[in-house]
Amino acid sequence: MNMQTKPHYLITKKFLPLAALLSASTGAFAQSAEAPTYYGEALYALSRNCAECHRPEGPNLGGVQAPFSVLNFDEAKIWSPLISLRLKDGSMPPWGAHQQHQGTFKNERYISDEDKQLLIDWVEAGSLEGDAEDQPSTHELVLSAPANEPTLAPDGSMWWMGVPDATVAFADPIQVCEEASDWQPTILMHRTGGDLSKHQWAQASEIRPGGPTMHHGTSNYLGVAVPGRGPQVYPDGWGFLLPADPFITLNMHYAKQSGTGTAVEDNTVGGFLFYEPGDVIDYVVQNTIPMNTDIVIPPGDPNYMATHEHTIEEDILLLALAPHSHYRGKAVKIDLELPGVDELETLLWVPDYDFNWQFHYEYHEPRLLPAGAKMHVTWWFDNSAENLANPDPTAEVRYGPRSSDEMMNARYYYTKAEPQGIVVGDPIPESLLAQARRTEQYYRRQQANWETENVSELCGPQVAP
Ligand code: HEC
Repeated sequence: MNMQTKPHYLITKKFLPLAALLSASTGAFAQSAEAPTYYGEALYALSRNCAECHRPEGPNLGGVQAPFSVLNFDEAKIWSPLISLRLKDGSMPPWGAHQQHQGTFKNERYISDEDKQLLIDWVEAGSLEGDAEDQPSTHELVLSAPANEPTLAPDGSMWWMGVPDATVAFADPIQVCEEASDWQPTILMHRTGGDLSKHQWAQASEIRPGGPTMHHGTSNYLGVAVPGRGPQVYPDGWGFLLPADPFITLNMHYAKQSGTGTAVEDNTVGGFLFYEPGDVIDYVVQNTIPMNTDIVIPPGDPNYMATHEHTIEEDILLLALAPHSHYRGKAVKIDLELPGVDELETLLWVPDYDFNWQFHYEYHEPRLLPAGAKMHVTWWFDNSAENLANPDPTAEVRYGPRSSDEMMNARYYYTKAEPQGIVVGDPIPESLLAQARRTEQYYRRQQANWETENVSELCGPQVAP
């Protein structure tokens, strides 16, 4: 099994003679010996903070891909005004959790003040190249492999989690016609490889988006594919049950402009990594979505606040938090109240929620929450015209599935705190099977409730997915 590890970048930097800096200098700070250069300093900071995504063949993050490589001077220079802008406005590197959580969640992305300032200085000094001849002898750039190198399956497909044991795909590509703008079909994906005819315990799943218009895809088993999320890979001994079933349900959400030339085809595929007979599953991963569906956001309101509470029924290990709202979502805070403790503890504070980046805040160490613990969830929404993402500041907005509706969900992933000691290959407890099937059926039934556009009317008869 090809597990994910956190990437690390190592660059060794030799002393750059002053003369080399001066001779390479152009731009505003041309005469300054201190102007940072690409090969001198900037590449170092860019590699550490940006190259995880901004590299040749960068990872597809739920439908978006970084538009340039920072490992190439010419590209970095062309993009440098925007690099400076995005560093200043804090939108790059992308990460939502407040600095107070530094060290808490996996794959966190905080840039140090020094690196940030250095890159801004590099741009302002004219994005100087420095001494290119020293590369690569000056810089030994090691981008460690498995985390962000896709694995090539024998059929030619690429997977970030490793070569899947089973794969699923649409029977035919989904055609999202010109007229559609906000379509949420429920699609049964078919087996294209591996064995789904018997119950399987899975350790990892991955959705490979197959079209540019995806807003998100949600599946009981495949997880959630939204911008900013990679594959879902659990630690050894953690997994989820995939009951025998010829189909895997995927609730897709296609959001795009309607009109001439906007039609697209989607070929999303999914894959799983299975445990082998004899492996032991101690922790069966489940997720739940506490939400408040009673929100009514007045037109133009720049700071509508809504809350809800959620009580933990039995001792659990909290694995990850994945809050979700739409374009008007502005900030979210999840506070924890432990039984008998007066003071609340902030589990997660996202001060600047960005719909385009829906992160999965996964703990380094799963967090034990005792029965009776309570989550206090607070969301803030900006329904004013100041919010540039707002589709309609004049609308009164309620909870709903369309992108133009809102949500205030606080999905979290957890397991029972007690190790289960389930041996793969042994009979599966009936209660676990029943529960897995119930959840899958829930996703399968979403079609009736969540179809927001009559796409057959808009696009003509659809091939039954
Ligand atoms: C987790 C992956 C990731 C990391 C890390 C990351 N970026 Fe990005 N970046 C992206 C993606 C994806 C896009 C394209 C976003 C889109 O199309 O909506 C992007 C877009 C950009 C853009 C273009 C923005 C625009 O306004 O058009 C700039 C500039 C940028 N990134 C700079 C940086 C810099 C500088 C760093 C490091 C300090 C960085 N990024 C780190 C993924 C990343």
